[in-house]
Amino acid sequence: WILMVTAQTPTNIAVIKYWGKRDETLILPINDSISVTLDPEHLCTTTTVAVSPSFESDKMWLNGKEISLAGGRYQSCLREIRSRANDVEDEEKGISIKKQDWDKLHVHIASFNNFPTAAGLASSAAGFACLVYSLAKLMNVKEEQGKLSAIARQGSGSACRSLFGGFVKWIMGNEANGSDSMAVQLASETHWDDLVIIIAVVSSRQKETSSTSGMRESVDTSPLLHYRSKEVVPKRILQMEEAIKTRDFPSFAKLTCTDSNQFHAVCLDTSPPIFYMNDTSHRIISYMEKWNRSQGTPQVAYTFDAGPNAVLIAPNRKVATLLLQRLLFYFPPSADTDLSSFVIGDKSL
Ligand code: DP6
Repeated sequence: WILMVTAQTPTNIAVIKYWGKRDETLILPINDSISVTLDPEHLCTTTTVAVSPSFESDKMWLNGKEISLAGGRYQSCLREIRSRANDVEDEEKGISIKKQDWDKLHVHIASFNNFPTAAGLASSAAGFACLVYSLAKLMNVKEEQGKLSAIARQGSGSACRSLFGGFVKWIMGNEANGSDSMAVQLASETHWDDLVIIIAVVSSRQKETSSTSGMRESVDTSPLLHYRSKEVVPKRILQMEEAIKTRDFPSFAKLTCTDSNQFHAVCLDTSPPIFYMNDTSHRIISYMEKWNRSQGTPQVAYTFDAGPNAVLIAPNRKVATLLLQRLLFYFPPSADTDLSSFVIGDKSL
């Protein structure tokens, strides 16, 4: 027999960034972060997990290619979920798995991203969130979503935020064992559904410095990062929560842009410096800043993760349509910009 579960999890984009760990194994951050989870149909991971007595070992395929599960991150997620597994009965198929059987059974995992892996589009976030969620369903784990987020966190920090829709805060927590470092939902997907998110794919090439090693180097060498995590982010988190609660787009946009810029300043402050953005990214920032200034109030927010792709957030469909037209006009797809656009949030644009 074989028992299978399929789940789909969207990626999330941080508007107040996570950058830096205080514990590398448990993946515990040095500051809180806030993100918005995208609509599942646009940038997501679909994962099927299967269990069968005929499987001889745990195996995983990512986008059709077998990958090793030997890494500590996969092992942590598998171990944590297995230790919480319960009895599973499927009368139709005549399957009965007892709680204690899960230690002896092996799983096969097939995962697909509908967007470029490791191009700074937070693929690990959707990937580990989906892995943990689907394994939890397969093994009848009864933990609430917050507890599952703390398991996904051990796969990739940003993954803990993808277990919720809408606006999500990852609380850094204080415990050494990480038990209080988990995600909470700040507002559901319906709270501010006028927002439209557009991702301008500047380059789908794999990034040179992974987030994991980049943030390790920043923690070791950047004085700005330590100032940021202690003095800047705690205040910004409160301001961002308020902006989200009151749907205050100008404040939301200002905080999002400044936080992205400070994150990239930290990367420059790292020794040797890390460059995630390229010339096109910088041109997009200049363009958005000029547009916002000319209107007297922010029209669009921009944010960049560990890669050159721009995530642009418009307050409504009208501005988003205008933004898309302008992007296509000023940044036409060409050999050196490789700019194409995903439209997130509203397919009719
Ligand atoms: C810039 O979650 O990919 O996207 O925890 O080492 O797997 P690990 O790092 P990861 O880092 C994400 C960094 C970021 C900001 C963010 O998503 O908050």
